[in-house]
Amino acid sequence: MYNVKQVTEDTFWIGANERKNALFENIFPLPKGVSFNSYLIKDEKTALLDTVDASVTRQFFENLDKALDGRTLDYLIIDHMEPDHCAAIVELASKYPELKIVGNAKTFTLLGQFFSDDYSERAVLVKEGESLTMGKHTLSFYMAPMVHWPEAMVTFDETTKTLFSADAFGSFGALNGSIFADEYDFERVWLGEARRYYTNIVGKYGSPVQGLLKKAAKLEIANICPLHGPLYRKNLEYIINKYNTWSTYTAEEKGVVIIYASMYGSTASAAEALASKLSDKGAKNITVYDVSCADTSTLISEIFRVSHIVFACPTYNAEIYPLIANVLADMKMLAVQNKTVAIIENGSWAPVAGRKIVEKLGEMKNMTVIDKTITIKSSMSSDRGADIDALADSITATM
Ligand code: FEO
Repeated sequence: MYNVKQVTEDTFWIGANERKNALFENIFPLPKGVSFNSYLIKDEKTALLDTVDASVTRQFFENLDKALDGRTLDYLIIDHMEPDHCAAIVELASKYPELKIVGNAKTFTLLGQFFSDDYSERAVLVKEGESLTMGKHTLSFYMAPMVHWPEAMVTFDETTKTLFSADAFGSFGALNGSIFADEYDFERVWLGEARRYYTNIVGKYGSPVQGLLKKAAKLEIANICPLHGPLYRKNLEYIINKYNTWSTYTAEEKGVVIIYASMYGSTASAAEALASKLSDKGAKNITVYDVSCADTSTLISEIFRVSHIVFACPTYNAEIYPLIANVLADMKMLAVQNKTVAIIENGSWAPVAGRKIVEKLGEMKNMTVIDKTITIKSSMSSDRGADIDALADSITATM
C-alpha cells in the first residue's frame, strides 16, 4: 500500500519507515526505528531527491508510482551517495531510461564505485551554487562536504524555500503518521533521537556542519527536509540552534553524566553516592549509566549534552575497564571537546585506570580534569564520605 505525504504544494514525501532492523549502520540501536526520506517534486519536469535504503525499496517504489500518477521521472538528484539513500538507483535507472542523474563530481565517483552500470550519459554535473529549472521550481545546489560524506550536498528549492538537507537535521526514529516536527511534542518524542543521530553520525564533523550552517544562513529557508526523521516547517531556529550548539561542541546544559563500570558493585556504589551528593549540593541534570547496560551511542549523546562527565572505572588487566576505554575511544573519534571530567578509579592491588583515563583525555581538545580523583581499593569504606563530598564540591564549583 502506498504512503505519500504532501510537503508543499507540489512536493511530496515518498520515503518509508523501517522498524525491523535492530541496528543502523550495523552499529547503532534503533529502538524507535528509522525513516528513510525521499522527496518528489512535480513540475513541468519531475525530480526525485534521493532514494532509500535497500530494506524499504518496495514501499518506496509503491509511493513513487502513486505520486507520479502515470508521469515519467525526469531527474534524480543525489544529495548523498551513502547506501541508506541510494539503494534504489539501479532499479530506478532501469525503470526510467530517460532519467537524468544530478550530482557533483564526487557523487559520480561514488556512484561508479558502488554500482557497475555506466551512467555517464545520464549525468548532470553540478557545482556550488548552480541551478536547474524544473518549470516554476528552480533548484540550487550547495556542497556540504563531510556532512556526512565528502560528496554530500544540499538542494534548495528557490520557489518553495525548501532546503533538502541530506543527513543534516536528520534524526533516528521512524515517523509515526505525521511527517512534520511541529505535529509532535518534539522535545519529548524527537530531541533525544535527533541528538543521538547528530552526535554519533555527524558529531565528528563539527567544522563542516558550521560551514553548512553559514551557507544556510544566507538562504531564506521556510522548510527543512532531511533524509531521516521529521521535517521542519515551523520554528526552524530551534533545530538550527541545536545544530549550532552540537557542532561547536558546546554543552546544551550544565549537568553531569556519570558513567561507571562495576564488576561486583563497589564502583557502582561510589558512583551512586556521588550522584546523590551532587544532587544534595544543588547540581541539576545528573544522569547515571552503567556502561555495561547502556549503548555507547546513548553515552556519546549524553556526553555532548552536558558540561561535566564523571568516569567511575575499575582497573582491568592493568588498563582501563574495556567498555569505558571504548567510550573514550569513541569520544576521541567524534572529536568531543570542551568538557570538565572527574574520575573515580578502582583497583584492588594496582589501580591505574585514573591515570590512563587522564592520558586518553589528553588526546582530546580542551578537556579539563578535576584534580581530585578518588582511588578505591576494592570497595569504598564508609569513612570515605568526605572524599565523595570533596569531589562533589569540586564538580559543583566548576558548574
Ligand atoms: Fe543517512 Fe550519511 O546517510
